[in-house]
Amino acid sequence: MRIGLVGGTGKEGRGLAARWERAGHACVIGSRDPARGDNRAAAACDVVVLCVPYAAQASTLEEIGPLLDGKILLDLVVPLAPPQVTRVSIPAGGSAALEAQRSVPGARVVAALHHVSSTHLGDPEHLIPGDVLVCGDDVEAKEAVLALVAELPARAIDAGPLVNAVALEAMTPVLLYMIKKYKRSGLGLSIAGLEGA
Ligand SMILES: NC(=O)c1ccc[n+]([C@@H]2O[C@H](COP(=O)([O-])OP(=O)(O)OC[C@H]3O[C@@H](n4cnc5c(N)ncnc54)[C@H](OP(=O)(O)O)[C@@H]3O)[C@@H](O)[C@H]2O)c1
Repeated sequence: MRIGLVGGTGKEGRGLAARWERAGHACVIGSRDPARGDNRAAAACDVVVLCVPYAAQASTLEEIGPLLDGKILLDLVVPLAPPQVTRVSIPAGGSAALEAQRSVPGARVVAALHHVSSTHLGDPEHLIPGDVLVCGDDVEAKEAVLALVAELPARAIDAGPLVNAVALEAMTPVLLYMIKKYKRSGLGLSIAGLEGA
C-alpha cells in the first residue's frame, strides 16, 4: 500500500514511515519544503496520514483537501494548547478528528495513534508500549487502519465511532503530565481484559 505522511518530516511521521516501510509498504514523506518532501504527493497516496501540529491542521487540510476525496485520512493530531501541553484542551469543533472530517467531508477520517510517542518510534527494535485505540465511522477505512497499526507492530483496538476520538485526543495531555510527574519517557496506554478477544 502507498502511505503518504503529510508533515511527515517530524519525528512522529518519520518513525511511522520507517516502521511501515519495514512492513513492506511504500511511504511518501510530505513537507512544505520541496527539498524535504511534497505534501501534495503524500496526499495522493492510498492512505494519507496527517502528521502536522494541531495549529496547522485546518490550513493544511484546506490546501490538500481537494486531493482527499474517497481517501482514508488517518488523523493522529492531538489538539494541544502550548505551552500548557499537560492540560486537556478540547477544540471548538468537538475534536481534531471531527474538525478534519467536517473540513474534508469526502475523506474517510479515522483517528488513531495519539498515544504512540515518537520517542522510540524510530527504533524498529523498540516495542511500542500499550495499545492503539482506533475510531472511525467508515467501517472499511477503520479496518484498513487497524491492519496498518498491527503492522507497526502494535495491538490495535476498535474504539468505536469518530465521535469517540475526543477521548483519545484528551488522554495525550494526561500522558504528558505523567511523563513529567514520574520522569519517564514514551508512556503508552493499555486496555486491560481484552486478551483473546
Ligand atoms: N510526537 C509525538 O510523540 C506524538 C505522539 C502522538 C501524536 N502526535 C501528533 O502527531 C503530529 C505530529 O507530531 P510531531 O511531533 O512529528 O510534530 P512536529 O515535528 O511539530 O511537526 C510535524 C511536521 O509538521 C509540519 N508543520 C509544522 N508546522 C506547520 C505549519 N504551521 N503548517 C504546516 N505544516 C507544519 C512540519 O513539516 P515541514 O516543515 O516539513 O512542512 C513538521 O516537520 C502532531 O499533531 C502531534 O500532536 C505526536
